[in-house]
Amino acid sequence: LIVRFQQLKETLNHYNYQYYVLDDPSVPDSEYDRIFQELKQLESAHPELITKDSPTQRVGAHPLAAFEQIEHKVPMLSLDNAFSFEDLQQFQKRISKLITNENPSNDLEFTLEPKLDGVAVSLYYENGQLVYGATRGDGKVGEDITLNVRTINSIPLVLRHTDYPEQLEVRGEIFMPVDSFNQLNQKASDDGTKAFVNPRNAASGSLRQLDPKITASRKLKMCAYGVGFSSSGGIAKTHYKSLEKLKEWGFHISSKLSKSSSIEECFSFCEDLGQERNSLNYDIDGAVVKVNNLALQDKLGFVSRSPRWAIAYKFPAQEKITKLLSVDFQVGRTGVITPVARLEPVFVGGVTVSNATLHNMDEIDRLGLQIGDFVIVRRAGDVIPKISSTVISRRTKEAELKEIKLPERCPICDSLIEIESTGVIARCSGTLICPAQLKESIKHFASRKAMDIDGLGDKLVEQLIDKNIIHGITDLYKLDVNRLTLLDRMAEKSAKKLVDAINKSKNISLSKFIYALGIPEVGETTAELLAKQFITLERLSSSDEKSLLELKDIGPVVACNIVSFFQQRTNIDKLDQFIELGLNLISPEQIEPSKQSLSGKSFVITGTLANLSREEMSQKLKDCGAKVQSSVSKKTDYLIAGEAAGSKLTKALDLDIEILSEESALSLIKSP
Ligand code: IVH
Repeated sequence: LIVRFQQLKETLNHYNYQYYVLDDPSVPDSEYDRIFQELKQLESAHPELITKDSPTQRVGAHPLAAFEQIEHKVPMLSLDNAFSFEDLQQFQKRISKLITNENPSNDLEFTLEPKLDGVAVSLYYENGQLVYGATRGDGKVGEDITLNVRTINSIPLVLRHTDYPEQLEVRGEIFMPVDSFNQLNQKASDDGTKAFVNPRNAASGSLRQLDPKITASRKLKMCAYGVGFSSSGGIAKTHYKSLEKLKEWGFHISSKLSKSSSIEECFSFCEDLGQERNSLNYDIDGAVVKVNNLALQDKLGFVSRSPRWAIAYKFPAQEKITKLLSVDFQVGRTGVITPVARLEPVFVGGVTVSNATLHNMDEIDRLGLQIGDFVIVRRAGDVIPKISSTVISRRTKEAELKEIKLPERCPICDSLIEIESTGVIARCSGTLICPAQLKESIKHFASRKAMDIDGLGDKLVEQLIDKNIIHGITDLYKLDVNRLTLLDRMAEKSAKKLVDAINKSKNISLSKFIYALGIPEVGETTAELLAKQFITLERLSSSDEKSLLELKDIGPVVACNIVSFFQQRTNIDKLDQFIELGLNLISPEQIEPSKQSLSGKSFVITGTLANLSREEMSQKLKDCGAKVQSSVSKKTDYLIAGEAAGSKLTKALDLDIEILSEESALSLIKSP
């Protein structure tokens, strides 16, 4: 029986290791669950055999009344910061000077790792068993968070193998993966509770729970980045090797570790990581450069509160405080009213931000926001900047604040604003008479994934409507060159091109046309499904809710939207007009299976492209069967370089890889 116990525990620990440390599970989750259940059953039959290190004992039974304090065996210090290549050069020079004085033959090597933006933790093991986990606190004394730390699956309760020192203190960062953070906040918004500002606050809030059950539900992870104390002296000769040792003993370490003796290379590592920052599933705020040789680290020692042997290269902040100047209300394609914050411009995440979406009135309530308030603006990646919280403590004169109210009438067409039954969505009731809705639906109609009308951009659509040249979507097909040349910045040549592009769009696949119609909640995927299922527009337009609901992925709301769209008189007329104008819908059967023209080719995209986002370009390439990778290697076929391309471009030039501009990449996609 005891043998079986041991077997089950070891198997589970092994699966856990493969899953959390190696990122390479060997069995499906169901198999893990099955063995876990077997162990649980055995334990409930023989409670006397339960040990603290059993995988079933990660979540303790009782909440704490308060956290105890723990004094760190070795103080937990912080890192000095670098913001530029020059700062890194100085760091290297300082070190070189110190070591040449003492020992001129030492060659200097650095390790490179991401600087995770989470909560620092110290984990203490005796004879391979986790004894306690503590927060950094003031660096000398932290809080005892052992019960919470035990719930984190990537933290071993017992170390693997046997070559660990009797006493070992491991340091690392506890963080919440971005997807888990988004899920947690989604749930908070569904439940009407307060959301977390960012993944770091969510990790910290989750660790500071007195009830470990709550922590256990939060999907935290830990990444080890060093050893604080070891009773055997060093566990390896270099920092890099000691991280590898930690991995063997069961800790998750960064998959992006690197080494280099050149400070130039260290800088390009930092830059590359900065480029990748927003595609990672964890928040980082920089890269850490450390002297690899541990004996050398010892020699270099500390100045005040930071080691001389390490430096943090910090990326530009993704969060800044600014002032909310006013709130405007925008009208979307389907009439939905969206409050938009006008902000005092701030430089955040590499760009100047002066607007942010506030989604809906509920969001404003949730933020407790008033005009004149200071807010935290967060910009992560290509995502639209977001206001993550109101800085209530910066409120000075309450009298200068102004409440934000939903207007009663549409700011564009003055129709009444109606609030949907859910209470969250406000809509302009003007539909076709509202120029804002018309503009948005034409922009959508012309967009790439819809009718893909080249040259019909947002600005042009706005002019066409503001100058009363068109009054509806079908009017697009009646435009002529003479009329168009009357517009700003429209020469005859481009007018002709545009008319050609509009005419060309008359031959379009059924699925794109369905998507272009802009039926509420019918996205690209649903449009494709409908086209495949109904083959012709007539059949789709005469479908009923029952036949729609039979399709997988179509729910009652979407089915109802589709049926009512095709019942509306104005829409029926519009479709008739399209047919009269010579619309030729190509049903899915007529389309030959897309030729994978770029299959086997590998691309890397760098810098800022002028017309497409990197994601859009990447999608286009993938549609042609190409692979899109994040870093340049000998196997890369093409590098697409936009503005401000950095080290990837240099590397590609070094490796003699063909460089493409955005334009030449697009023409390669069109005719490879
Ligand atoms: S090494 C002597 N490595 O950054 C200090 N720190 O200011 C050794 N951090 O709160 C720290 N990722 O928790 C180190 N790869 C990494 C790190 C890292 C994040 C945090 C650390 C500390 C802060 C240092």
